[in-house]
Amino acid sequence: MELARQGTRLVLSARRLDELQRVAAATGLPDSHLLILPLDVTDEALLPTHVQTVLAQFGQIDSVFLNAGITQRSFVSETDFAVYRRLMDVNFFGAIALTQAVLPTMLAQKGGHFVVTSSVSGKIGVKQRSGYCASKHALHGFFDSLRAEVASEGLNVTIVCPGYIKTPISQSALDAQGGRYGKSDTHQEQGMAAGECARRILKAVATKREEVYIGGTELLGIYLKRFLPSLLSRILRNRSVEA
Ligand SMILES: NC(=O)c1ccc[n+]([C@@H]2O[C@H](COP(=O)([O-])OP(=O)(O)OC[C@H]3O[C@@H](n4cnc5c(N)ncnc54)[C@H](OP(=O)(O)O)[C@@H]3O)[C@@H](O)[C@H]2O)c1
Repeated sequence: MELARQGTRLVLSARRLDELQRVAAATGLPDSHLLILPLDVTDEALLPTHVQTVLAQFGQIDSVFLNAGITQRSFVSETDFAVYRRLMDVNFFGAIALTQAVLPTMLAQKGGHFVVTSSVSGKIGVKQRSGYCASKHALHGFFDSLRAEVASEGLNVTIVCPGYIKTPISQSALDAQGGRYGKSDTHQEQGMAAGECARRILKAVATKREEVYIGGTELLGIYLKRFLPSLLSRILRNRSVEA
């Protein structure tokens, strides 16, 4: 919605076509500025074809927002291995697959911007999010490497680390057996509005920030990890499980 306000030409992608259509209608953008392109980031073989569809309509790809993600609510001791595979497939391999599908176009253009949604959980590990935290940490390794490789080609990488943002993310969280958690968590409910988060993300993109932290006091965890890691470890160990 923030990009639409700026008159950007948009490709809207996720799995649920009805949701994409709802958002597309809400943008108020003309058809010439919109492409609804349903996709699943785990269908990696199809992604190059989707890129061609975008190029056929718009002729170029300036930015790609690697934002698809699912989270988890389960302890390591009770979690099925398949849950870890699923979290890595969507949050990590999905982002890599889409990046590799788009990269040749951006290299040929000698320009482009990858905007990667990590998390505060990409910087610290917390209870009941072991696979989610691992997938987000992995994004930093991959995209820091990519940035180093493509900076000289005019390509940018911004890694976004939000804290608690008010979205329905906990509803679709995986439980220990890979089922739907289906509840709203208080922290997300009381978190920053998604629109405010989006505005801050776009500001970071406009100024070509390499990494940006967006949220409230939970961001302190990132700085404690860097400067007082033992203190953070004690805090996280003693913290009751979130709801
Ligand atoms: N909310 C927070 O507090 C918070 C904090 C830090 C980071 N984040 C990150 O922010 C990103 C967006 O999450 P959100 O909070 O906005 O939650 P959300 O409302 O649940 O959004 C997740 C989005 O990912 C899409 N998605 C999920 N699986 C997909 C797949 N296999 N292929 C394509 N699209 C897929 C979903 O659409 P479909 O279901 O239609 O596919 C949905 O649009 C995630 O990466 C999340 O980890 C969120």
